[in-house]
Amino acid sequence: MGQIKVIVKRQVNSSLEPYHEEYAYDGSPHISVLNLLEYINMNMARLAEKAGANRKLQYQSSCEQGLCGACAMVINGTPGLACRTFCHDIVDKSGCILLEPLSKFPVVSDLIVDRSIIYESMKELKLWVEGNAVYRAKSHNNQYQAAQCLQCGCCLEVCPSYARNDLFVGPVGAVNAMNVFQMSQQSEHKQDVKKQYKKKFYGDCVKTGACEKICPAEIPVLGVISESNYVSVWKIWQLFGSAK
Ligand code: FES
Repeated sequence: MGQIKVIVKRQVNSSLEPYHEEYAYDGSPHISVLNLLEYINMNMARLAEKAGANRKLQYQSSCEQGLCGACAMVINGTPGLACRTFCHDIVDKSGCILLEPLSKFPVVSDLIVDRSIIYESMKELKLWVEGNAVYRAKSHNNQYQAAQCLQCGCCLEVCPSYARNDLFVGPVGAVNAMNVFQMSQQSEHKQDVKKQYKKKFYGDCVKTGACEKICPAEIPVLGVISESNYVSVWKIWQLFGSAK
């Protein structure tokens, strides 16, 4: 494999226009995209196509093991984790790698986006357990898998129903709601979460399964959503049904 052309969509900050910058990467293809970004930053003057380029690439990372979700970005058109994606797997026939920020969040700078809307919507849904948590052996497996959610935003990137500033919270909300439904005792708080879930998720999910395919934590999202629906909506329907 010869030289790789790396194209990065850049933006100094949210008030300035984005632009693309190219780098001619000449090292081994057997490195992660995260390491590629580090390499470019260390050799910016030599690799940048544009003479005089010296503004370091801005991106986020922490664990470098696929555990924190910080490095999520769009890699050759597909959202994923830069630390878990390897150049030799994704370089296309023309020898290019295109790196862009997640498109459904405001850009802070280059590949860094502001994902605080995820945390805000989780607060609005009141996704926490009040009082002692209940252990339910039957749902333990799903609970464990749902707890792997990185809140990285990859599922929202591919979700056809999710749009920024919309009421719909997307799969990340549904996955995290499942743990509250299973671990909370019956309480006013739990009823509140169910109502919010119905309002902000249940009616708008079109169940394409794109979220499950893209999830870097390999969460069986559709199964978890089914369980959340069962607990929050179906049981309410049964109550009404049996009352008739
Ligand atoms: S740096 Fe933590 S998931 Fe990539």
